[in-house]
Amino acid sequence: MKSPARLCIFLLTVFQLLFTSTSFSTQRIHQSRRLGKYKEVVDTWALYEVSGDTSIELNGVPQEDISLRFSGVGRLYHDPSQTKKQQEEESGDVIACSSDDAHMEVVEKLSKSTVAIVGIGGVGSWAAEAVCRSGVGNIILMDLDDICTSNINRQLHALSSTVGQMKIDEMKKRLLLINPNCNVTLVHDFIGVDNAEDIVQTQFIPAGVDIILDAIDGTDEKAALIAAACRNQVPVVTCGGAAGRVDPTQIVCDDLSKSNQCRLLFWCKKQLRDKYKLFPKGPSTKGVNIKKHRTRKWRIWSVFSEEVITKKNDNSSSTSSLRTCDGPLGTACFVTGTYGFVAASKVISMLANEDELIKPKILKSALALPFVESK
Ligand SMILES: *[C@@H]1O[C@H](CO)[C@@H](O)[C@H](O)[C@H]1NC(C)=O
Ligand SMILES: *[C@@H]1O[C@H](CO)[C@@H](O)[C@H](O)[C@H]1NC(C)=O
Repeated sequence: MKSPARLCIFLLTVFQLLFTSTSFSTQRIHQSRRLGKYKEVVDTWALYEVSGDTSIELNGVPQEDISLRFSGVGRLYHDPSQTKKQQEEESGDVIACSSDDAHMEVVEKLSKSTVAIVGIGGVGSWAAEAVCRSGVGNIILMDLDDICTSNINRQLHALSSTVGQMKIDEMKKRLLLINPNCNVTLVHDFIGVDNAEDIVQTQFIPAGVDIILDAIDGTDEKAALIAAACRNQVPVVTCGGAAGRVDPTQIVCDDLSKSNQCRLLFWCKKQLRDKYKLFPKGPSTKGVNIKKHRTRKWRIWSVFSEEVITKKNDNSSSTSSLRTCDGPLGTACFVTGTYGFVAASKVISMLANEDELIKPKILKSALALPFVESK
């Protein structure tokens, strides 16, 4: 009596399994039919999921796949008023749901763009993620740091399994899983005062860089990178200090000349004016109504927080914290990540709407000077 009962249960289970898997695959097929031409693509995805090998660079992904992945971004930045007009002209009436590929122009533009992200830490890792998920086709990652356990609280690539690995190596694996067609170039180096201009001229410009996204957290290095970008007229989006802040809702994006409440950017601007002589000196604080005085825009977008740091141990001043895993102030991913996302949003809108692709406006006299004035 025992074994026939077991057999029965076994058979029931098998039937149940068969039934569920059949209905599951029927569902898949229906979905695929609904998607029509995308069926192949769905299968390709399944293959990626199964293989799971991130070391393989998967090339030759069909165009439909790119459209499936990134057309959402295209629709976001594509100007619908133009399409509507076009449709009205072509067909004489308004079609509610557009089937034309006008928004794909944006997707294509982004896929041909090149963004260099310098510093792949608490801010840069999230920025790289967002830039890649928006379909930017060429990404250069620059950093020479490895992942510390104390990075785990805020850096996207930092996991128990990646501690000790190079940040940009881990980031590249992730970006290729997001977009196997993304051309990710790694520069294993730190930007410094001695190599900034060289890196920009020999690594970024020949690669056709459209924008440099600066996510460096040390004053001297940040100033050197921005100065090199300015002197070579490469558009740049820079990020202020995220440490010691708890409120991501106070993060804003404005011209670098207007940043406030940020020591990192304050010291950086001072160097850009005094050391690199790229911008005119600010108004004297004596006898001038600063609020009335309008400084000319530098045409460099900067992301900074207007949150007032109340902690008393803000000892970071102008010393570099580049090579330390964690500063004294404390950090949180929802703040560093927001910096990265805000910077990425500016980068994408600059690329999608070319008229927003502004270049730094520097003093002409600065170009006659060597990169750093020798003492
Ligand atoms: C990939 O990027 C590198 C530099 O970032 C560039 O030199 C190269 O031409 C790009 N490759 C393709 C296929 O676009
Ligand atoms: C700031 O740093 C100095 C030495 O670098 C130290 O003596 C001082 O106690 C620090 N201040 C605070 C508030 O941590």
